[in-house]
Amino acid sequence: MAEITIHRISKLTGVVTVPGDKSISHRAALLSLLASAPMEINNFAEGDDCARSLAAVRALGGIVEQDGSRLLVSPPHGGLKPPAETIDCGNSGTTLRLLAGLLAGAGIAARLTGDGSLRRRPMQRIIEPLRKMNAGISGTPDGTPPIETGAGQIVPLDYILPVASAQVKSALLLAGLASGVEVIIREKNLVRDHTERMLQHLGCACTVEDVTPETVVDPDDPRRKKKVRSTDEYRRSITLPGRQTLAGGRVDVPGDFSTAANFIAAALLIRGSHVILKGVGLNHTRTAFVTILKQMGAEITIKNRTVIGGEPVGDIEAAYGPLKPRKISGDQIGGVIDEIPLLAVLASQIEGTTIIRNAEELRQKESDRIAAVVRNLKAMGVKIGEFPDGFAVEGGTELNGAEIDSFGDHRIAMAFAVAGAAAHGRTTISGSEAVAISCPRFYTMLEGLRS
Ligand code: S3P
Repeated sequence: MAEITIHRISKLTGVVTVPGDKSISHRAALLSLLASAPMEINNFAEGDDCARSLAAVRALGGIVEQDGSRLLVSPPHGGLKPPAETIDCGNSGTTLRLLAGLLAGAGIAARLTGDGSLRRRPMQRIIEPLRKMNAGISGTPDGTPPIETGAGQIVPLDYILPVASAQVKSALLLAGLASGVEVIIREKNLVRDHTERMLQHLGCACTVEDVTPETVVDPDDPRRKKKVRSTDEYRRSITLPGRQTLAGGRVDVPGDFSTAANFIAAALLIRGSHVILKGVGLNHTRTAFVTILKQMGAEITIKNRTVIGGEPVGDIEAAYGPLKPRKISGDQIGGVIDEIPLLAVLASQIEGTTIIRNAEELRQKESDRIAAVVRNLKAMGVKIGEFPDGFAVEGGTELNGAEIDSFGDHRIAMAFAVAGAAAHGRTTISGSEAVAISCPRFYTMLEGLRS
């Protein structure tokens, strides 16, 4: 396991271009398996996670021509082929869950596994709805990988997502696309919608309908009006009709918002800092971190907004400034799920108590991110209380350099490199190589902003 030492940075300034978005790159790679023509993918994500999706595409007969971050991916001649060997998805839950949906939908016999972390992560959440579709899919008795897919007599699905998970939603949409049956997914809490957008961008008739509240006369007080939804069971439904053909095409991947969030946090934490992040994905299902921080008083400005391939993109400018504490919970969590370790680090420097609740999904990520945040912030001298579904951070005391454990999790390593840059004294991160999952150049990029 590699260890890195992070030295305090007294001020950060500069312009950063973060690597391509991980979620969008996975989807572009995997969808090219089902396309009717080659796909050109520009600014494909760096890092091991998306490389796993590309390796899987190759193992299934896809042809990948790569020139740096530019790819040309041709679908398998004569359709998908069962892979000769087990597909190793490494650390990547997105590769495993989305591919399991696609292969189960296509009725392809395959075995999918991953590293120690991925083999502990829950897969029942895809197995259960895929079985409702009569797909051939199984996991270990405790619902973890390896996952095996095979033939099935696939039937349409109309499903209310019980967990707020874009990976589950996407696995089911890919099963629908691969099998040609209609799939309707109903979401209670909005989660990232990159799959829907990419399906539309590549010519599929995928529709998204929000259950918007209607204003009606209040039966308890006819002088008043109130807003009601026709149902409380879901907020949005996504319909992918049967027999869709996915045209090939071009996907320009925006910069990864979740990677950019580390530099935003560093700028907000370190006095006098000012950073500009160029060409970052600004899909509203991903940017709650910015919305929440602005409500807490952060100086963050978005410039040069545009839309590329159905995904909003722009530049983010963030500058140091004091923040106010608040509670983050309920339906805000889905949009900030990958940035919560960073919110916790920021909270350590906010006078007062910042509370995060309803984030129990964090325990199912690449590590138990609630336990990892609590352990590491305590090591840096922060008062933090743990809940089953979150934590309460008592902010306002200076961070002390400490021995940090990444728990093999890229987002923990990056969040605590940011904390280390703001801390007094030296911070060492063991398992520092985890950043290679989504941003292999992370430490050099952070150091490059030292001024
Ligand atoms: C992802 C969805 C989220 C997120 C993960 C990537 C995706 O996971 O945490 O980093 O690309 O769909 P869940 O869908 O499990 O919440």
